[in-house]
Amino acid sequence: MRKYPCKEPVVVTCGLPYASGPLHLGHLRTYVPADVFIRYLRKMGVSTTFICGSDTHGTPIMTAAEKAGVTPKELAMKYHQLYQEIFPKLGIFFDNYGSTDDPENHRRTTQIVTALQKNGYVYAKDLQTPYCDNEKRSLPDRYVRGTCPYCGKDARGDECDQGCGRYLEPGEILNPRCAICGSPTRPITRKHHYFRLTSFADFLQTYLEGLDGTKNARNYALGWLHEGLKDWCITRDIDWGVRYPGDEKLVLYVWVDAPIGYISSTEEWAKKIGKPDAWERFWKPGDGRIVHYIGQDITYHHCIFWPAMLKGSGYNLPDAVVASGMVTVAGNKLSKSRGYVIWIGEDYLDNNLDPDYMRYYMVSYSSQTKDLDFTWASFNEKVNTELVNTLGNFLYRALYFAKQNFNGVPQGKPVDAIQQRIQKTVEAVIDGINEYELKKVADEVMALAAFGNEYFQTNKPWELIKKDKVKCQEVVYNSLNLAKAIAVLIEPIMPSVAEKVWRQFAMSSDVHKVGLDETSKPLKEGSKLGEVSPVIVKIDEELLSRLSDVTSKRIQAALTADHAEPETKMISFEEFRKMDLRAGKIIECTRVPRTDKLLKLQVDIGTEVRTIVTGLGHLYPPEKLKGLTALFVVNLESKKIGGIESKGMILAIEKADQPDYWVPVTVEGVPPGSKAA
Ligand code: MSP
Ligand code: ZN
Repeated sequence: MRKYPCKEPVVVTCGLPYASGPLHLGHLRTYVPADVFIRYLRKMGVSTTFICGSDTHGTPIMTAAEKAGVTPKELAMKYHQLYQEIFPKLGIFFDNYGSTDDPENHRRTTQIVTALQKNGYVYAKDLQTPYCDNEKRSLPDRYVRGTCPYCGKDARGDECDQGCGRYLEPGEILNPRCAICGSPTRPITRKHHYFRLTSFADFLQTYLEGLDGTKNARNYALGWLHEGLKDWCITRDIDWGVRYPGDEKLVLYVWVDAPIGYISSTEEWAKKIGKPDAWERFWKPGDGRIVHYIGQDITYHHCIFWPAMLKGSGYNLPDAVVASGMVTVAGNKLSKSRGYVIWIGEDYLDNNLDPDYMRYYMVSYSSQTKDLDFTWASFNEKVNTELVNTLGNFLYRALYFAKQNFNGVPQGKPVDAIQQRIQKTVEAVIDGINEYELKKVADEVMALAAFGNEYFQTNKPWELIKKDKVKCQEVVYNSLNLAKAIAVLIEPIMPSVAEKVWRQFAMSSDVHKVGLDETSKPLKEGSKLGEVSPVIVKIDEELLSRLSDVTSKRIQAALTADHAEPETKMISFEEFRKMDLRAGKIIECTRVPRTDKLLKLQVDIGTEVRTIVTGLGHLYPPEKLKGLTALFVVNLESKKIGGIESKGMILAIEKADQPDYWVPVTVEGVPPGSKAA
């Protein structure tokens, strides 16, 4: 049964972009389909609200801000501004574009978390999280790297980004090391707050079974549910974010306030249109429908955490989650650091490439749930062959012939077979929308254009005009009806192409506002046409090959940088001589309590016995080091490590073939205090 068109209003949201960098091609896989979808809903007469905003909190923003040398707020606002400017350039117009740092979002988040607390879904628990003595800070999420406890690959603190892709809870990662300076970390214990996700298992089972949207979202989520849920730590020991109600020293995990951004952005929209309660129709229990467009990478958050949070705090539940397959670049996972990235501004819009072409590519290249592997060659093929030959060709031929020979719409009657063919396409388009399968929609519209081409080609109006004027008029009249229907049908995918066609038809209506029923309304005989020119123009192949070079060079540069030897900075002999290196005998060695790496050494350096703390405890038991004579730096500034004043440092070598494995530099048989140079 079809869900759309529906009487109830629909709010469509898009995964909120992290305001930490410019827009790239991966992002478009969420925003373009959502925009296309909502434009079709409007054409079907559905009342819609289109919501998005910037995701400003969390460690992705903080690390990017640190790199740029600005505050997280400054960085977030810079990109928030940029996003607001770039979306309209792509024909994407949100009814509201908010930010998760807006006061509305702080307020709504506090309200929801407080409701969860009141309803008994939050409890406190002591948690050990990594702390870096070198950076003197605690290390949540992306600030830490280590080993994935599930697959053993190198992973980020919050996600196994290079291995199994699992979401990781704080404290789960093994062998944590500081992502900023690379040093080993030490666990610190602090009271954190947990959301009782486990008590939502039954609810989620039923909810997910009835969840609309794409199958991948539902099936992945049901799979995770089967594997078993874990309670969810919702606090972080940092100070950028929404304060945790009840402990102002903690902030909420970004994935708590980020989806709440959907609600607060809807609230902002409601205020803007002067109906401050209008958001409730969607988010408070009621008949409004919620459709989330996201990439597959954030399915867990949208299908597990989010519905549980909404349920636990008494809000309405999403009706559908549409999860796209991921965008890859030339077969590689999109990665800014590795050069596999296409920037929408720099690489695309700045080269005056038509946004409509990319919109078409995004929805028609592969089915919604399949990955989309971008290459400039495939883009070239899609535009310069498919679009130009089929759509562009038919529209231009029909309009140009009419303009040249009749200076407008000739007399004629709509032929039943043609009208039925149009109607069939409209039905198929509606089906595609109901299946959230825009590739099907795009293919159907293109098939109608191909049909138009064939109709024109077989009827040969250029011959008819000499032999049978009436028949010629009929063919041209019906071709124009087809062209007009195509313009309406393609508008959601290529809004500015549709606008151009509409102008050539000299229509007084707005092609963005007319409904799908407009496709079956025959043109008025004798009406004038505007100026006619091709609406799809071939992209310069030289430009495309230049862009292709830019992409491969960027990848090459990133790969070379990866393998480059770290540059060794030269120091003078004088500088070297400043170091006081001496043989020291370890006469005592004990573990520093409550740490897994720290050892406290008593070292005889000839003139005295020093206390020196070292981080080799995870590699050597204390008895292995006791009795060794090794090389020490003895004039290093003293430093408190693990609460103990350390006066000096043992020298150790990191094995080239085994990162993080350190071997002390021993100098057996040398009396303590002997000086090295
Ligand atoms: N901030 C989170 C989403 C919070 S939603 C409450 C986030 N941001 S993002 O900037 O990384 O991604 C924004 C949107 O683009 C998400 O829907 C994400 O799935 C999508 N994509 C980002 N990179 C992508 C690909 N390479 N491929 C397909 N979509 C991906 O996630
Ligand atoms: Zn893993």
